[in-house]
Amino acid sequence: MNASKRTPVIAGNWKMNLLPAGAKALVEELIPLTKDAKCKVVLCVPYIDLPTVLAAASGTNLKIGAQNCHWAASGAFTGEVSAAMLKDIGVEYVIVGHSERRSLFGDTSETVAQRARAALDAGLTVILCVGEVLQERRQNITLEVVRQQTKIALADVSAEELRRVIIAYEPVWAIGTGLTATAEQANEVNRAIRDLLAELYSQDIAESVIIQYGGSMNAANAAELLAQPDVDGGLIGGASLKAADFAAIVRAG
Ligand code: PGA
Repeated sequence: MNASKRTPVIAGNWKMNLLPAGAKALVEELIPLTKDAKCKVVLCVPYIDLPTVLAAASGTNLKIGAQNCHWAASGAFTGEVSAAMLKDIGVEYVIVGHSERRSLFGDTSETVAQRARAALDAGLTVILCVGEVLQERRQNITLEVVRQQTKIALADVSAEELRRVIIAYEPVWAIGTGLTATAEQANEVNRAIRDLLAELYSQDIAESVIIQYGGSMNAANAAELLAQPDVDGGLIGGASLKAADFAAIVRAG
């Protein structure tokens, strides 16, 4: 399979933004702007917005995701939400291992692997985030860091399950900073992830996996990033909160 056979996935990560009324308004604005999208479009929204957004997007091409899930199906985990709970209300996607979860909320590659495992068990599609911090890029260990994060997260994931895994390469220094990786930098890391998947699974499987880029992707830089052979979509934070900007990225996807 070659790049042209992969359908790109453009996913918005709303982070901790928008009350349900604002979420509904944004989805209603997006529906006409994205209804003819050639790529898949996913909106990863705050837990509290999920019921409203699922209802507003029902019957459209917009897919809905959450931004995290716990590794247990249920139990004494105050404040947490399980993958089975997300699945039950109609959620199809979940982000795991976002760098904000890793840096601010103590997620490690091991807990990310557990969350991914639970999401796959519940029948969700995982958007697995990996990426280096600036110091690691400066030390020239980006590929090692990203390979290790990916390998640990996928340790217990079968080839069959990998069909429900999207990998998002997000250099931490590019998230919310306005700094974007160059198209070449993004493609180099995405290619390295694909090479790792070929080692872990097979070349054919590796060629079928969606590997996104994320980090200050916007309406102006999306086309160049998405034109790279190993960049199969984007995970978009800030620009996903503005309908016109997100729709422009979807058109480039
Ligand atoms: P950004 O966020 O587009 O605002 O840089 C991307 C992300 O955190 O997924």
